[in-house]
Amino acid sequence: MKRSGMSRVDPSAFIKANLPISAVPLIPEILLHTAGPASGLWRLAGRGEADPPPYWAYPWAGGAVLARHLLDRPETVAGRRVLDLGAGSGLVAIAAAKAGAGAVTAVDIDANAIVAIGLNAAVNGVTINVVAADIIEASLPETDLLVVGDLFYDPSLALRVVAFLRRCQAAGIDVLVGDPERAYLPQKEFRRIATHPVADFGAGVGGQAVQAGVFSLSAIAEA
Ligand SMILES: C[S@@+](CC[C@H](N)C(=O)[O-])C[C@H]1O[C@@H](n2cnc3c(N)ncnc32)[C@H](O)[C@@H]1O
Repeated sequence: MKRSGMSRVDPSAFIKANLPISAVPLIPEILLHTAGPASGLWRLAGRGEADPPPYWAYPWAGGAVLARHLLDRPETVAGRRVLDLGAGSGLVAIAAAKAGAGAVTAVDIDANAIVAIGLNAAVNGVTINVVAADIIEASLPETDLLVVGDLFYDPSLALRVVAFLRRCQAAGIDVLVGDPERAYLPQKEFRRIATHPVADFGAGVGGQAVQAGVFSLSAIAEA
């Protein structure tokens, strides 16, 4: 593989060659191309300051807890349109599809994530529509259920996401958030509805299990 400054690595070929397929810890139903120490991820991501971090290369605790929840309670998604915001690897979207969702859309701003989601969907034998866009300030998506795994790691993003979730809720879209209570999860906006043990990649190497939460939005306050 060429490594000159001008060369562009093909993301699909790179992921297939360097990110082995493995089961998600505590979610053996789902296989993902996952980065390891030998993956050399920097060759694909991190080419410049503006490149997003390769979050799609790992399953995050917030996504894992949502995936576990949907697989254990398929009635949550059965026959419904599900949209996974900040899909990363596609973990939650894949769980929704496996659990019997009518249609699943995965949205991410990272072009490499979009490629990874396509590959991971194929590995798991499910169909997922992928959208490469920031839809948070756009018109509301046509979906029945919005699922959001581990998107509260940045303060300004967290504010934008909560405002979007509130808009969705007001329009009748159900919202479920998976999160291991990261720093910028605005706890007062949410109600915990379930807890599952999952591996927390975000806590560092070693994959220590954490009790992560599935949250729904709290009721809209009366004006
Ligand atoms: C920590 S990862 C979580 C990925 C996955 N949901 C999981 O739990 O494994 C956050 C993901 O959100 C994406 N993201 C960040 N800001 C976004 C935005 N405004 N719209 C859509 N995706 C976004 C990132 O590119 C990244 O893939």
